[in-house]
Amino acid sequence: MQPRAAILLIIPFAAFSHPCESCHPKEVKSYARTGMGRSLHASRAEPDGGFEHDKSKTSFLIRSNKTGLFQRMTHAGENWDYRIDYVIGSGNHASCYVARVGDHLFQSPICFYKSRGYDMAPGYEDNPAPGFSRPITVECLQCHSGRPLHIANSVNRYATPAFAEEAISCDRCHGDAAAHINRPSRSSIVNPRKLTPALRDSVCEQCHLAGAVRVLNPGKTFTDFHPGLLLEAVFTTYVAAAPEPFKVVSHAEQLARSRCSLESKGRMWCGTCHNPHSENTFYRQQCLSCHTRQFRASHPPKTSDCLPCHMPKREADDGGHTAFTDHWIKRHPSTLTGVAQSGRLIAWREPHPDYRARNLALALGDYKLLLETQKSFPADPAVLSGLGTALQARGDPRSAAKLFERVVELRPFDPVAEENAGMAWLDAGEKEPAARHFEKALALDPLLLPDIEALQKIYRETGDQEKASALMNRVRQAMQTRAK
Ligand code: HEC
Ligand code: HEC
Ligand code: HEC
Ligand code: HEC
Ligand code: HEC
Ligand code: HEC
Ligand code: HEC
Repeated sequence: MQPRAAILLIIPFAAFSHPCESCHPKEVKSYARTGMGRSLHASRAEPDGGFEHDKSKTSFLIRSNKTGLFQRMTHAGENWDYRIDYVIGSGNHASCYVARVGDHLFQSPICFYKSRGYDMAPGYEDNPAPGFSRPITVECLQCHSGRPLHIANSVNRYATPAFAEEAISCDRCHGDAAAHINRPSRSSIVNPRKLTPALRDSVCEQCHLAGAVRVLNPGKTFTDFHPGLLLEAVFTTYVAAAPEPFKVVSHAEQLARSRCSLESKGRMWCGTCHNPHSENTFYRQQCLSCHTRQFRASHPPKTSDCLPCHMPKREADDGGHTAFTDHWIKRHPSTLTGVAQSGRLIAWREPHPDYRARNLALALGDYKLLLETQKSFPADPAVLSGLGTALQARGDPRSAAKLFERVVELRPFDPVAEENAGMAWLDAGEKEPAARHFEKALALDPLLLPDIEALQKIYRETGDQEKASALMNRVRQAMQTRAK
C-alpha cells in the first residue's frame, strides 16, 4: 500500500508544473492557447505528405513514426534524409521545421501551410538547389521562442536540448520574475500596459518590428533586451522612409501610419486590441471606445463590423514576415498597404545621441559615413566590419582584408570575423591567408557551410589531398555528433 502522504506530496507538483500557475492559473491557461504560447515546440507527428518543387526538380516526402519525424529530399536520383527536431510556428498560419545536425540547427526548406499543405518555406520558392543549409540564428529564435540556449561565438550551435523554454515565455513580456516570486506583489513585476508608451511598445516591438535592418549598440547582443528597457538601449531598428504601394510590412509600422495612432497621443498600442490573456477581443468595442461621436448618416451604424472596410484581410499568404490583417487603419481600403525599400532608411526611434551617426552608418553600409564614424569608434568591431564590407563592394578586397584582420584581433573567438577575413583574402586572390582564416573559423564552428565550400575549393586548387580529406572527416564527425 502506498502511504497517503506520498500522494498528497505528488499532486501539488503535478498540478502546478508552471512556476506561475499556482497563483495565476487563469493567465497561464489562456496564454497557452494563443499562437505565441505555442510558437515553437519539439517535433511531434506532423501530417504525412509529399510534393515536388518544379523549379529545382526536387521532391520532398514527409513521414512520422515512433522514432520521430523525418523529411526526405530527392534530387537527381539521390536521397537525403533528415530528422526534424523542432517545429517553428503554432500552425495558425504555418509550421516550419528545424533539423539538428550535430549541435547545429538548420532550417528545413519546406513548411506546412494551413491554407495549402506542404510547400516551400518563405524565401525558398525560387531556389534552384534547396537544402537544409540556412542556419537558424539566435536572432530568429529570440523572436520565435522563449529561451534559446545558444552557444557563444557560434552562428547556429545550441546546447542539448536547445531551449530552456520552447514557446515564448512569460518573462519575454513581464521580465525576470525571481523577485516577484520571492515577494509577490504588483510592484515586483513588469506589466507592459503600465509602462510609458515607448517602453510599453518596446515589449511587442522586440519581435513584431523587424524593420529593414536592426543595428546593435556597441557591445550589445539581442538577448540584452528585457521588458522595462527601451529597445534603443540595445539596438536601433531602421525602417524604409517613404510609403510606396504593394509592399507589405510589419504590424507595428502599419499601425504607426494610422491617424488613430498618430492622433491619439500614445494611447493606442498593440494592447488596445490584443491581450495575450484573453481569447476574445471585441475589436468594435475598442474602436468605439475612442470613436464616441455620432457617425454621419451615410456611414454604416455603430453595430456594423468595422474590420472588412477599415482593417481588411489580405489574400497574400506567404507565411513569411508580413501582416495578414492591414493595420494601417484608413478611410478607404486601398492597395497602398505599406512601404517599399526606397533606399532611404530612418530610425524607428533614435538611439542615444552618441550612437546616432554610428548606427545609421551601419544600417546604410555607407562607406563615407562609416569612415567618419570610425573617428569616434576606432576599435569598434561592427564599424570595422562594416567598412570592410563596403570596401569589398567597392572592389578593394585587399584593404577590406586588412580591416577584417583587425576585427579578428579584437574578437579572437568569433568565427564570423574569421570567415569575413577569409572571404576578403580569397577575393584578393590570396589563397594562403584565406585558408588560414577558414581553418580557424571551422575550428570554432565546424559547420559553417560557405567556409567548408571555399576551403575545399582552395585545397583542390592547391592539390592538397591530405588536408581535403581531413576536412571532410571533420565535417562528417561534426554532422554525426547527434546527442540523442
Ligand atoms: C506565490 C504567488 C505568485 C506567484 C508564484 C506568481 N505571482 Fe504574479 N502576482 C502575485 C500577486 C499576489 C500579485 C498582485 C495581485 C494583486 O495585487 O491583485 C501578482 C501580480 C502579477 C502581475 C500583475 C502586475 C501588475 O502591475 O498589474 C503580473 C504581470 C504577474 N503577477 C506575473 C507573474 C508571472 C509571470 C509569474 C511566474 C513567473 C508570477 N506572477 C508568479 C502572486 C504570484
Ligand atoms: C518574443 C517575441 C514576441 C513578443 C515579445 C511578442 N510577440 Fe506576438 N507573436 C510572436 C510570434 C513569433 C508570433 C507568431 C506565433 C505563431 O503563431 O507561431 C506572434 C503572434 C502574435 C499575435 C497573433 C495571435 C497569436 O496569439 O499568435 C498577436 C495578436 C500578437 N503576437 C501580439 C503581441 C503583443 C500585443 C505583444 C506585446 C504585448 C507581443 N505580441 C509580443 C512573437 C512575439
Ligand atoms: C524581429 C523578430 C523576428 C525575427 C528576427 C524572425 N522572425 Fe519569423 N516571425 C516573427 C513574427 C512576429 C511572426 C508572426 C507573423 C508576423 O507578425 O509577421 C513570424 C512569422 C514567421 C513564420 C511564419 C509562421 C506562421 O505561423 O505564420 C516563419 C516560418 C518564420 N517567422 C521563420 C523565421 C526564421 C527562420 C527566422 C530567422 C531566419 C525568423 N523567422 C526571424 C518574428 C521574427
Ligand atoms: C506577449 C506578451 C505576454 C506574455 C508572453 C505574457 N503576458 Fe501576461 N500580460 C501581458 C500584457 C500586455 C498584460 C496586461 C493586459 C492588460 O491589462 O491590458 C498582461 C497581464 C498579466 C497579468 C495581470 C492580469 C491582471 O488582470 O492584472 C498576469 C497575472 C500575467 N499577465 C501573467 C502572465 C503569465 C503567468 C504568463 C506566462 C504564462 C504571461 N503573463 C505571459 C503580456 C504578456
Ligand atoms: C486609441 C483611440 C483609437 C482607437 C482604439 C481607434 N481609433 Fe480610429 N482614430 C483615432 C483618432 C484620434 C483619429 C483621428 C481623429 C478622428 O478622425 O476622429 C482616428 C481616425 C480614424 C479614421 C479616419 C482615418 C483617416 O485616415 O482619416 C478611421 C477610418 C478610424 N479611425 C477607424 C477606426 C477603427 C475601425 C478602429 C477599430 C478597429 C479604430 N479607429 C480605433 C483614435 C482611435
Ligand atoms: C485597432 C485594433 C488593433 C490594434 C491597435 C492592433 N491590432 Fe493586430 N489585429 C487587429 C485585428 C482586427 C486583427 C485580425 C484578427 C482576426 O482576424 O481575428 C489583428 C491581427 C493581428 C495579428 C495576426 C496576424 C494578422 O495579420 O492577421 C498579429 C500578429 C497582430 N495583429 C499584431 C499586432 C501588433 C504587433 C500590434 C501593435 C503594433 C497590433 N496588432 C495592433 C486589430 C488590431
Ligand atoms: C461598409 C464599410 C464600412 C463599415 C462597415 C464601417 N465603415 Fe467607417 N467608414 C467607411 C467609409 C467609406 C468612410 C469614409 C467616409 C467619407 O470619407 O466620407 C468611413 C469613415 C470612418 C471614420 C472617419 C469618420 C469621419 O467622419 O472622419 C471613422 C472614425 C470610422 N469610419 C469608423 C468606423 C467604425 C468604428 C466602424 C465599425 C463600428 C466602421 N467605421 C464601419 C466605411 C465603413
